[in-house]
Amino acid sequence: MTTIIKDENDPKLYSTASEILRNGGLVAFPTETVYGLGGDALSADSSKKIYAAKGRPSDNPLIVHIADTSDVYKLAEYVPDAAKALMEAFWPGPLTIILKKKAIVPDETTGGLPTVAIRMPSHPVAAKLIEESGVYIAAPSANISGRPSPTEASHVIEDMDGRIDMIIDGGAVGIGIESTIVDLSGIPSAHSENTADEASALPVILRPGFITKAMLEAVVGPVTIDKAIIEPDPNLRPKAPGMKYTHYAPKGELTIVAASLNDNEKSGTESDPVRIAKRINELVLEKTIQGYKTAVLTTRDNALLYKSENVILLGDDRSGRTVAARLYSALRECDAIGAEYIYSESYDDTDFGGAIMNRLLKAAGHRVITV
Ligand code: TXA
Ligand code: MG
Repeated sequence: MTTIIKDENDPKLYSTASEILRNGGLVAFPTETVYGLGGDALSADSSKKIYAAKGRPSDNPLIVHIADTSDVYKLAEYVPDAAKALMEAFWPGPLTIILKKKAIVPDETTGGLPTVAIRMPSHPVAAKLIEESGVYIAAPSANISGRPSPTEASHVIEDMDGRIDMIIDGGAVGIGIESTIVDLSGIPSAHSENTADEASALPVILRPGFITKAMLEAVVGPVTIDKAIIEPDPNLRPKAPGMKYTHYAPKGELTIVAASLNDNEKSGTESDPVRIAKRINELVLEKTIQGYKTAVLTTRDNALLYKSENVILLGDDRSGRTVAARLYSALRECDAIGAEYIYSESYDDTDFGGAIMNRLLKAAGHRVITV
């Protein structure tokens, strides 16, 4: 049975949750990005339980959550200066750092990789749980593998009730998409003796998120992005194993309608939002006539352009913040109303918008129409 407790309601909440974690059980908890499904990161059995509860392939490694920067040194073989600078700048917060692992981190937690993903969350419930339990918490997003990540406790209950020991309800999360992942495992410390080849390695973004490339570069200089996550090419293997799977997908077929980047290819003379809305309305009409249920994902400022019976608002305006916060719950709403065809506008591919587009494209299986 799964115990579901609201964060503020039970004074014994943290001691109960800590005991579950220390005994190898699973507790879902809020973080500032999405809800996590936590277990003891140093226990191979707990990690196996996490994979089983999620229905996740066991080659897809877990992120280890810590409560104090000094914990990094217990988990990682060595910590390059660039990692120290990023920890200083962005922890606690939505940044995951990949480093060479120490032997105490079991292969089950890292999917057999010689590296470990580490993050120090800023959400007070997450921080308190890690601190009070004294457990390094391995936690993937608390959804069934392939489904949209949970941003509210109700989403976790939907996917995990009966599969885990406890769910801590901390309300809606703030950011709404998962942490930025940056790989520093190939980057030597300034004081260590390494080959010139290693020394030329740059930090690599394996998953875009709230902490953008520009924000990272302001701290550590040039950063690259894993090519496999920008160009969906079956021959390129993403360095974060999880990025190769279809993800975040609603049950209906999602299509993104984007403005062509080339002015000559644009049909008609209307503005981009109007042209996009026109095409989406055509597609909605076509599917409705065929008897299908449709939904449109848009923002408040464009909502009046649409004629679908199910216009789902992703946020207030085109700025990424509100869209990210609503994205996954909007995809779950599409499932709840039984939408069979879903259409979304695209978002600016710069900064934080890049992280939103990364998730939307995966949810859409890269189905994009340009107009
Ligand atoms: O915001 C987040 O990061 C959330 C919250 C709960 O902290 N967690 C999360 O975990 O998104 P998950 O398991 O859904 O995604 C972890 C991603 C996967 O794509 C996985 O392949 C990658 O991190 N990853 C984990 N360890 C790695 C490693 N050693 N090397 C490369 N990629 C790794
Ligand atoms: Mg996930």
